[in-house]
Amino acid sequence: MEHYYSSNPTSKSEERVLEYYIQDKVLKFISDNGVFSKNSVDFATNLLIKTVVAEKIEGSVLDVGCGYGVIGITLAKLLSVDVTMLDVNERALDLARRNASKNGIEAKVIESDGFANISENYDIIITNPPIRAGKEVVYGIYRGAKEHLNPGGKFYLVINKKHGAPSTITYLKELFENVEVLDKKAGFHVIRCM
Ligand SMILES: C[S@@+](CC[C@H](N)C(=O)[O-])C[C@H]1O[C@@H](n2cnc3c(N)ncnc32)[C@H](O)[C@@H]1O
Repeated sequence: MEHYYSSNPTSKSEERVLEYYIQDKVLKFISDNGVFSKNSVDFATNLLIKTVVAEKIEGSVLDVGCGYGVIGITLAKLLSVDVTMLDVNERALDLARRNASKNGIEAKVIESDGFANISENYDIIITNPPIRAGKEVVYGIYRGAKEHLNPGGKFYLVINKKHGAPSTITYLKELFENVEVLDKKAGFHVIRCM
């Protein structure tokens, strides 16, 4: 069965364009079958973006599991940041590249299973993690984030209570000195680790 985290989706391509309204801007994203939240920007993704925008982050940003690119591209559109996006899904990566240029953004897009192909460090790492890919993948992303942050860097993620937010927080506290829940809505927790 095909999942949104397949590396090479085989479902028939049916591209569509979705609109995302944030602040006074409207961003347009090409989406398709075989990628996460193909019809509209996901509730948790929107919550994460809004929380991080309010933090007024700066510097280099890595969007882990970028899908069609909504997090990285929106942050690049609204803030002064230099964005890199990675995913394991080739169809998502192609969409992320095209969506960056569609929205007038320069961004680096890298095919990578977790941090496997990432050699640099970043000021900000952000993810709406691939829960369905399993705990091993997701906890690997948390460890990779810790290893790839510049000194003083911050890691942001969103996770639902029903997908293990409390145990995630316990694990993150083993990795990071400071772990804070910045916002909570409908069970989703936006977490900042420093
Ligand atoms: C919950 S979706 C989030 C997508 C996008 N960031 C958003 O918020 O709409 C998680 C993404 O992680 C990707 N993914 C799954 N396993 C991965 C892995 N091992 N390494 C990198 N990305 C992965 C999936 O393909 C998917 O695009």
